[in-house]
Parts: sequence; C-alpha cells; structure tokens
Amino acid sequence: MRQIVIGNWKMNGNLALVEAMAREVYARVASLACDLVLCPPATLIAPLAAALPGIALGGQDCHARPAGAHTGDIAAVMLREAGASHVILGHSERRADHGESDAAVCAKAVAARGAGLRPIVCVGEGEGARAEGRAEAVVLGQLAASLPDDFATDPAGIVAYEPVWAIGSGRTPTPDEIVAMHGAIRAALRARFGGAADAVPILYGGSVKPGNAGAVLTLPEVGGALVGGASLVAGDFLAIADAAPALGRAPGRG
Ligand code: PGA
Repeated sequence: MRQIVIGNWKMNGNLALVEAMAREVYARVASLACDLVLCPPATLIAPLAAALPGIALGGQDCHARPAGAHTGDIAAVMLREAGASHVILGHSERRADHGESDAAVCAKAVAARGAGLRPIVCVGEGEGARAEGRAEAVVLGQLAASLPDDFATDPAGIVAYEPVWAIGSGRTPTPDEIVAMHGAIRAALRARFGGAADAVPILYGGSVKPGNAGAVLTLPEVGGALVGGASLVAGDFLAIADAAPALGRAPGRG
C-alpha cells in the first residue's frame, strides 16, 4: 500500500491558501511516493477541488444523518457533493469541544460510508492515561467502539492514532511507543475484521514536521501521517510527503 499523508487544516485557511497550496502541490505531486488528502474547512473544499483537480479532499467532520434540522452541521453527502472523498471523524478536538462519544463517531462513520466517503477515524490517549500506563487500553477501547462493523470492507476506512498530548505541542511519542501502539491497533483490527484488517492504513498524527517525518513514516505499521499545523505551509507539507518511503523501501513493509 502507498502511504497516505493527510493535511488537516482545522479552522484555518482561505482562498489565498487554496491558491498557494494548489500551485505548489500541483508542481510536485507526480514525484511523490505517497497519496495526499487535503482536509480544509468545508467552505474551501469546492474551491480546492477546482484549483487542484485529481487530489483527494476530505471534510473534518460530518453529521450522522443525511439531512434535517441540525443547524451548523454538515452531512456526509454534502461533503461528497462539494468534492470530498474522505472525512476525518472523532478528532480529539471534536471529542473535546463537542463532546463526541465513540458511539457518535461510529454513527458518523456509518453515514460517511453510506455517502461514499472514506472515513478517517481518530483515536488517541490523553497525557494522564499515558502517564498511568493506560494508553493502550484507552486507544483500543475507542477503536472498538468508534469503528462500524463494515469498516474494513473495501474501500477500507483509515485509522489515525493521534495521542492528544502530541497534537500541536511539538512533542511526539518515542519510536518504540509508536510501534507498540500501531502494533496493538493492527492486532485489534485483525481480531475483529480478520484478513480484511490489513487493508486499513494506520496513520500517525501529532506534531509531525519535516524534521521528524522520515523517522515516523519508516516505522513498521505506520501507513502515513495526519498532519495539522505543518499542513498549512505547502513547503512543509510537501517535505513531509517527500519523507514517505516508496513501496518496498520501508522496514517491515516488504
Ligand atoms: P499537529 O495536529 O500536526 O498540529 O500536531 C495534528 C492533528 O491534530 O491532526
């Protein structure tokens, strides 16, 4: 599987960034060994789709229902119509700011798949849980309850492991900690989905920068990166994408 590098713009960006990003990504995308997905605010999906045809785009959240009286929310089918093919779900900022439970994330993933979007489901422990040795239990608990039963069915969803304390902090887990968590996630996916589980990429997210991307992306069971802050600077985002190993080059990836 080619690695996937996803840019999560969060509540940042404007039409000027769309143009700058489109120019630089367009010039470089053919030489990359990985696939890119850009997840701008929903209002910028259609302009980005027009400026950068052929690049996969994603939303940052969707509602579990296809339509209705839900002021301020957006339906998966609306993201799809705007030009998205993916949607980030259960990001820790959504879980914290909007009280999203695992069950809510699971319902959104069902809606996303129903609308033809590939869900990117985020899981990750807080700092306290890691300090208390409960990181794996927390992450595997979130995973079990956030993924719908058809998650690994083609086209398989994507899991992003993002320790909450690493997001926007400049801190990352050690390589051993990332390998251990990704291995635990893979084992849990296999236990639930059997052989189909191997089609689910497991991305790492949390303070991925050009300076550490090579070290992270060559770890076993790391299938790419979910990038926040560094995805707002085209040069940094592309430098991270450049660090993705070509097929067959990464240790443990055959
Ligand atoms: P960061 O954010 O790269 O700025 O740490 C990652 C994320 O929240 O997806």
